[in-house]
Amino acid sequence: MKNLTPPREMLEPIEVASRDEIAALQQKRMAWSLRHAYENSPFYRARFDAHGAQPDDFKTLADLAKFPFTTKTDLRDTYPFGMFAVPQDQLVRVHASSGTTGKPTVVGYTRNDIDTWADVVARSIRASGGRPGQFCHIAYGYGLFTGGLGAHYGAERLGCTVVPISGGMTERQVTLMTDFKPQIIMVTPSYMLSILDEFRRQGLDPRDSSLQVGIFGAEPWTNAMREEIEDAFDMHAVDIYGLSEVMGPGVANECVETKDGLHVWEDHFYPEIIDPVTGEVLPDGEMGELVFTTLTKEGLPMVRYRTRDLTRLLPGTARSMRRIEKITGRSDDMIILRGVNVFPTQIEEQILKCAGLAPHFQIELTRKDRMDVMTVHVECTPDQASSEGRAASAKELAHHIKSVVGVSTRIEVRDPASVARSEGKAKRVIDNRPK
Ligand code: DLL
Repeated sequence: MKNLTPPREMLEPIEVASRDEIAALQQKRMAWSLRHAYENSPFYRARFDAHGAQPDDFKTLADLAKFPFTTKTDLRDTYPFGMFAVPQDQLVRVHASSGTTGKPTVVGYTRNDIDTWADVVARSIRASGGRPGQFCHIAYGYGLFTGGLGAHYGAERLGCTVVPISGGMTERQVTLMTDFKPQIIMVTPSYMLSILDEFRRQGLDPRDSSLQVGIFGAEPWTNAMREEIEDAFDMHAVDIYGLSEVMGPGVANECVETKDGLHVWEDHFYPEIIDPVTGEVLPDGEMGELVFTTLTKEGLPMVRYRTRDLTRLLPGTARSMRRIEKITGRSDDMIILRGVNVFPTQIEEQILKCAGLAPHFQIELTRKDRMDVMTVHVECTPDQASSEGRAASAKELAHHIKSVVGVSTRIEVRDPASVARSEGKAKRVIDNRPK
């Protein structure tokens, strides 16, 4: 793999500023953001008043804890535009969640917001090892999802030549990659695995591809998966994080030279970790729920937005800004199986330890005799498709899961290409328990 570390002179001054400089900027911007929310969004005014917190109560960053949280339910309750802080004619774009569970959530951007977003995504691509002048193949979905267009504006801002292919049509993805020779790909890690299968199906060696770096996010993925993809393509695999409510992709990103968690772009997004039950702010280093306050966003400022993502805050390394540890999962995706908390990422890690299994999997939950049962549907590799090979792999996986995660599972080893594929975010858990 090539050394893609950006030279220091390529970084923005704030990326290597002192902690004091960063804190001073955050304090100034936070004071603006809280006032902006209070004065221009009736939702926030009512919420702050009810909580007994006024913008003047914010003097130092520690005062943020006096302000109320915001949740996805607030966005749903005020659907579509009830939380916005600018008149609609100042919005240049809206995005929305698919709304498969209840009403969609709608987010909106002013021209300045789109500009900031492009800047942080450009910074993320550069941190990942991308450079101006390179081809950037974007296979995140375009449309109401923030992945495609968010990546797109950032790649253009950095000076890349963008291939806006979006998700799907996997055969064509590989053809265009062979013909255009992109150095950068931006895609969900699960869809990258489908692209990998397609390379092999076409008889191509993925290690011969032009790719130097993949910028993967929008869903949890493990360091074991990183190794798998880096090895298959002989390229760097770097993590990008974000969520629509706060901006979209580019809230935090790993640096290619360290790959040790994601630097939060703290000049625009202020992170906190809280105890998900009590709401108490936890010190850096402790595991809890990630919460963000936007520092510069005009259209839809977010004050203490509860992401439901579980991680911890760590000091900066390759940059001065703090890192979040690779996300274990969302509290919503946590399975509680006979009292043990299980995340799909833990199952992914164990699957990747088994040579006879491919990393395509789904977890099915059922109920038998009042007990929850977890079945892992996973594919065998083509060279381990015999019934003895499958039985051995099933036994091996069940053993790893039992000894590392601590739960007994049923393992269904299926044919290659038989577990549902995603072209965007993978659906890992199918809950077939009676409601
Ligand atoms: O997924 C934005 C995005 C697009 C990020 C492309 C990165 C790349 P939403 O659809 O609003 O936005 O979903 C946000 O996805 O709260 C996390 O649960 C999850 N997520 C996003 N990035 C990561 C990541 C986009 N790198 C939700 N690791 C978030 C783990 C991630 N989970």
